[in-house]
Amino acid sequence: QANLNQLAKAAGKLYFGSATDNGELSDSAYTAILSNSNEFGQITPGNTQKWQYTEPSEGSYSYTQGDVITSFAEANGQILRCHNLVWYEQLPSWVSSGTWTNATLTAVIQAHIASEVGHYKGQCYAWDVVNEALNDDGTYRADVFYNAMGPSYIPIAFAAAAAADPAAKLYYNDYNIEYAGSKATAAQSIVKLVQAAGARIDGVGFQGHFIVGSTPSASSLTSVLNSFVSLGVEVAYTEVDVRFTSLPPTSAGLQQQASDYGSVVSACLAVSKCVGVTVWDFDDQYSWIPSTFSGQGDACLYWANLTVKPAYYTISSILAAA
Ligand code: G3I
Repeated sequence: QANLNQLAKAAGKLYFGSATDNGELSDSAYTAILSNSNEFGQITPGNTQKWQYTEPSEGSYSYTQGDVITSFAEANGQILRCHNLVWYEQLPSWVSSGTWTNATLTAVIQAHIASEVGHYKGQCYAWDVVNEALNDDGTYRADVFYNAMGPSYIPIAFAAAAAADPAAKLYYNDYNIEYAGSKATAAQSIVKLVQAAGARIDGVGFQGHFIVGSTPSASSLTSVLNSFVSLGVEVAYTEVDVRFTSLPPTSAGLQQQASDYGSVVSACLAVSKCVGVTVWDFDDQYSWIPSTFSGQGDACLYWANLTVKPAYYTISSILAAA
């Protein structure tokens, strides 16, 4: 069995990676695979760097759980994509239910980012600085940040992250921007907004939560990646999974899933500024899908019993041929 990260690097990418979470690390059969840096050369903490965990009350910071994941990656020689700093979900209630003005929330964002990015300084290849700021129609999400500050919270967050870790690549990360449309156009406007404010933005993360049979073709994915690269940023697929909307899958369905995963990897290979592909965990046992989309799932590269699906072989052949 070929190793995905090894093949991705041989093909000129920086990594092939996976998300993980603290509770999963006690599963030794799972960690035997996750810790193999030839398979996964990059790790994303799926939860425990989020605000709810890292600053549960104002000014009281806790990195113990996040550090478990970063230490795991470092012990195995794996790159870290750090995730995330400003997101409307998984906020502590003191932030989400606070009464803010532009000035008070600006100070809160700046303090949070200075602390967290400062804590992880030098450890993160990339930070998802702002996550999911957009609605699917391309308008700004009216979350606590937008309601108090308008879009200005975005460049303020990027500037704070740049000050705290000059070496980390700073990303905007979102879903449903992988194909052309108003949301992708709005994400490009976010890149321009940050640049126009004189702050640094280095990358855009395309989450890649796809559906079997409705995943865009490699060529349409590639053209969208290129439209972002032309703004002067790098790109990455950051949270890929391809779910079945009804279960169990047929063998034809598994072939379609393989082809869909292959389209994502082919698109990244076609764009030199696409640095890598990350799956949002590699086995079905730890996928977020079933708890969010009832009756859906089997979205990962590995079955819950840790044997691989056809998609695994499709990806390894595409990488090997590149
Ligand atoms: O840790 C608690 C546990 O103590 C408690 O008993 C249990 C009961 O509900 O909940 C546990 O917390 C859960 C947490 O995952 C850790 O497992 C939360 O309820 C659950 O909501 C949370 O879900 C996470 C989700 O983000 C939150 O929106 C998923 O694991 C995580 O994979 C998912 O990741 C997001 C990315 O950050 C951004 N893009 C979309 C992606 C998928 O939703």
